[in-house]
Amino acid sequence: KYKPMYFPAPAGYNKWMEKDHIEQPPVWCSVDLRDGNQALIIPMSLEEKIEFFKLLVDIGFKEIEVGFPAASETEYEFCRTLIERNLIPDDVTIQVLTQAREHIIKKTFEAIEGAKNVIVHLYNSTSVAQREQVFKKDKEHIIQIAVEGAELLQKLMEENGGKYRFEYSPESFTGTEMDFALEICNAVLDVWKPKKELPAIINLPATVSHSLPHVYASQIEFMSENLKYRDNVVLSVHPHNDRGTGVADTELAVLAGADRVEGTLFGNGERTGNVDIITLALNMYAHGVEPNLDFTDLPHIVKVYEKVTRMHVYERQPYAGKLVFAAFSGSHQDAIAKGMLWRETHDCDKWTVPYLPIDPKDLGREYEADVIRINSQSGKGGIGFLLEKTYGIRIPTKMREEVGYSVKDVSDHTHKELQPKEVLKVFNEKYVNIC
Ligand code: KIV
Ligand code: ZN
Repeated sequence: KYKPMYFPAPAGYNKWMEKDHIEQPPVWCSVDLRDGNQALIIPMSLEEKIEFFKLLVDIGFKEIEVGFPAASETEYEFCRTLIERNLIPDDVTIQVLTQAREHIIKKTFEAIEGAKNVIVHLYNSTSVAQREQVFKKDKEHIIQIAVEGAELLQKLMEENGGKYRFEYSPESFTGTEMDFALEICNAVLDVWKPKKELPAIINLPATVSHSLPHVYASQIEFMSENLKYRDNVVLSVHPHNDRGTGVADTELAVLAGADRVEGTLFGNGERTGNVDIITLALNMYAHGVEPNLDFTDLPHIVKVYEKVTRMHVYERQPYAGKLVFAAFSGSHQDAIAKGMLWRETHDCDKWTVPYLPIDPKDLGREYEADVIRINSQSGKGGIGFLLEKTYGIRIPTKMREEVGYSVKDVSDHTHKELQPKEVLKVFNEKYVNIC
């Protein structure tokens, strides 16, 4: 019924298709405090933002977009608080978003005064839909807005004597003709003339995702191969998740040449969200590549995130959801128990336990509480594993089936999951006195 709203790269931009994994982590930039925050029902308070900022620093983010300081008093205040209270570690760069309008740019520069490492992120919208319907301006005008914004950034930086880095986003890139997207980015780069010691960032957002992941990746490859000053440009992507493919879009975009990724924890953000950086990083980890972000206590990260954003981490959220390592069914439990035993008795440099994509312990999760869960679907293997690991009770092989049925029966009648201590109770009541 509809014609597509995107503009694929010219034919031939798909060389990355031969690669089967990401070899190097991209530069990660968290946009939780800006894109994530602007999509919350109740935006974070100043104290909540500070707590979230500290969490992001602890995880290991070196680039953090802290807000759009000219957009609201809270955002301005937050930026000033970080700077004045010395809360930004020396190796962390804060990023601030600004539209390409004079008074907004000036206010943004006031907000960052005194900060050591800053990326000033300039954007204007470039898609056909926005040009025709919102701005009612032709392509030349849209380029002029971007170039004038870029010039003002350059001028204010020279006047301030600061050494800020600059980023430009053609917002709604995924609805923009590729040759126009290239023209406007190159026009901005011609103003900034990035050098090795001060590279510029060109950020290509899937503001709304419109295409299959490989189409977005081909667009990124096209831009990567045709941008001016490419050696001094960090090519960034900023995928949203409208088609539910934010992670795939990003992974392919990185294979296609992106150096940097903007996203959020658990994919919070406008509409269906920004891309989830945790999934991206842990997908890399599952491929044996160190992502340079620390998720060894994921339950703690979930706790802080849920508190300050008032959002809920979905039970099946990759890696982080309560149920993502859980096995209730007998055959899965049996395979996991056997896989764990096999691991204890074999020297193995790969993680191969069936049904578990990575070792849950690496994320601060427990086998007993998170993996083997007991209900009426469970089996003797899982129940035996749980009694042994939690209480040190090793059930003789011949008794296993009967114990399994006794425990399952209870769950069948109560229609409830049984906690480890309830499993122990059934076992004790039925067998301990006999022994
Ligand atoms: O999604 C988007 O296009 C943005 C820009 C401001 C980068 O958030
Ligand atoms: Zn965005």
